[in-house]
Amino acid sequence: MSSDRLVLILIFTAVLGAAVLGFAPEAHSQEAATPEDVVEKMLRLAGVEKHDVVCDLGSGDGRIVIAAARRYGCQAVGYEIDAKLVQLSREKVEKAKLQDLVTIHQADFFTRDFSSASVVTMFLPPAVIERLMPKLAKLAPGTRIVSHYQAIEGVRPDKQIGVRSASDGRLHPLYLWITPLGPTDTSP
Ligand SMILES: C[S@@+](CC[C@H](N)C(=O)[O-])C[C@H]1O[C@@H](n2cnc3c(N)ncnc32)[C@H](O)[C@@H]1O
Repeated sequence: MSSDRLVLILIFTAVLGAAVLGFAPEAHSQEAATPEDVVEKMLRLAGVEKHDVVCDLGSGDGRIVIAAARRYGCQAVGYEIDAKLVQLSREKVEKAKLQDLVTIHQADFFTRDFSSASVVTMFLPPAVIERLMPKLAKLAPGTRIVSHYQAIEGVRPDKQIGVRSASDGRLHPLYLWITPLGPTDTSP
């Protein structure tokens, strides 16, 4: 079989699979938030414990850092560039009385050092993840990286699951990598 035909078959299978399984490509916008039940699964996939420092890159309304601190009693740090979301998330942190555990920085995460995190979570577009690669590659060995929806291009995850959310009925792909990140995957 020619490689062109193989590529076409793979694309067709992926599109059909996404349609059948209910993947939610439109959920992958900057405004989107991870459903709360998927957040729980992300934290479980990372194996978060009390001694961890969870860092959410692009923390939105703060739901991941708040869930991490509330459920596991760990430190959690969010970086969010959008001032309104920063304000909203800080209000939520205060309401949950989690100020001792959760810090929200209004900042561009590209400009910050988040290397003290033992767990990094993200729900970001592929181009942003690609730009983050130099920082992700430098994380301490054993750091768990969990991405909602988007894989790291070319880097095979240590684990990959699909979570169907009760809130939207869709299947949400989750990926886990444990650093050091493996070599670029060039296999078909
Ligand atoms: C798809 S939302 C995910 C929000 C949250 N992490 C979640 O899973 O529900 C992505 C967030 O990343 C933020 N963001 C994108 N680029 C950023 C950057 N360079 N620095 C900080 N925040 C950023 C956006 O403002 C947006 O709130």
